[in-house]
Amino acid sequence: MKVGILGATGAVGQKFIRLLRDHPWFEIDALGASERSAGKKYKDATNWIEDVNLPSSIAEMTVANCKPEEFGNVDFVFSGLDSSVAGEIEEAFAKAGIPVISNAKNFRMDNTVPLLVPEVNPDHIDLIKTQKFTADGSGWIVTNPNCVAVPLSLALKPFHDAFGIDTVILTTMQAISGAGYPGVASLDILGNVVPFISGEESKIKPETQKLLSELTDGKLSEPQINLSATATRVPAINGHMISATVKFKKTPSSIDEVKRAIQNWENPIADLDLSSSPKEVIKLHEDDRFPQPRLHADQEGGMQLHMGRLRESEVFDISFVAMAHNTIRGAAGGAILNAELLKVKGFLG
Ligand SMILES: NC(=O)c1ccc[n+]([C@@H]2O[C@H](COP(=O)([O-])OP(=O)(O)OC[C@H]3O[C@@H](n4cnc5c(N)ncnc54)[C@H](OP(=O)(O)O)[C@@H]3O)[C@@H](O)[C@H]2O)c1
Repeated sequence: MKVGILGATGAVGQKFIRLLRDHPWFEIDALGASERSAGKKYKDATNWIEDVNLPSSIAEMTVANCKPEEFGNVDFVFSGLDSSVAGEIEEAFAKAGIPVISNAKNFRMDNTVPLLVPEVNPDHIDLIKTQKFTADGSGWIVTNPNCVAVPLSLALKPFHDAFGIDTVILTTMQAISGAGYPGVASLDILGNVVPFISGEESKIKPETQKLLSELTDGKLSEPQINLSATATRVPAINGHMISATVKFKKTPSSIDEVKRAIQNWENPIADLDLSSSPKEVIKLHEDDRFPQPRLHADQEGGMQLHMGRLRESEVFDISFVAMAHNTIRGAAGGAILNAELLKVKGFLG
């Protein structure tokens, strides 16, 4: 299938290009960015920060404006657009009959738009049928969550199924690449921790509740979770870490029962054998030193969720840490997995 990338010059856009280099189903046919980049060769419009060579065929492509008429031949687009412009541009593509698989926040909380992590809520893709961007249903939008809600929902899903989630108190330690490029000033982050990320904390609760919702007759019913988040930026390059303490609705008998909930959890898309799926979705580390972003964020192609420090809490039921690669599992890789699921389920033709 021919795909376009909106926001192709940014940190997430570059990750799409890297991950799609050898993809068995998807081939890059168009690249779009702002007016500043449009008309230039991709190699001149971007500051390539990936640690693999920019493929020469991509380097020579001309960057387009993010307008549907300039993306003539594509079957669908991935979006890594800045949220200040993503709403209008993504809607224009959907209305032109071009499906959009987005990383931006603009449509995440729309009742008709799936907010998708394939291992958590694959059935939510049916919401696409309720969208009205085109009369024939050819144009639609699917989003993937914020790069904290992705690892958090994956970590909570086995517990949600086994015990129900009552309350979560968490602190994030978010990598620099989460701020895009050029991102945080080096003088702010080197040897430092910044205890606030603008706009981040308020997304975590609504997105996590939407991800853990039940879909019945085209309507989502959300679990009510008490959730308090503190988002911080730390000098890791890739891999957002979350430290969480959780109170369940039904108290487990022991920490072993909690571990068994993870071990017994069944990945609902395992049998689809999608090419971006990790073999082991949740890796529970027993060594208290792990997980660590530098050692584990890239494992299983950056698509694995790493959990560790799982222990009884003195205050609630349990505490743990969870970590995943923010620009792969939390952004471009997650969006590609969404596209693979949508293709095998017949939404992409
Ligand atoms: N980084 C992460 O870990 C992460 C994780 C999850 C979700 N996200 C979301 O993904 C999106 C991209 O993030 P990022 O980190 O890649 O940001 P970024 O590095 O700042 O890239 C932003 C992209 O948007 C393009 N753009 C900006 N203004 C535009 C306009 N007026 N018209 C068309 N294109 C325009 C830029 O093109 P130019 O180069 O031409 O300016 C660039 O390609 C954001 O919505 C972000 O919230 C990021």
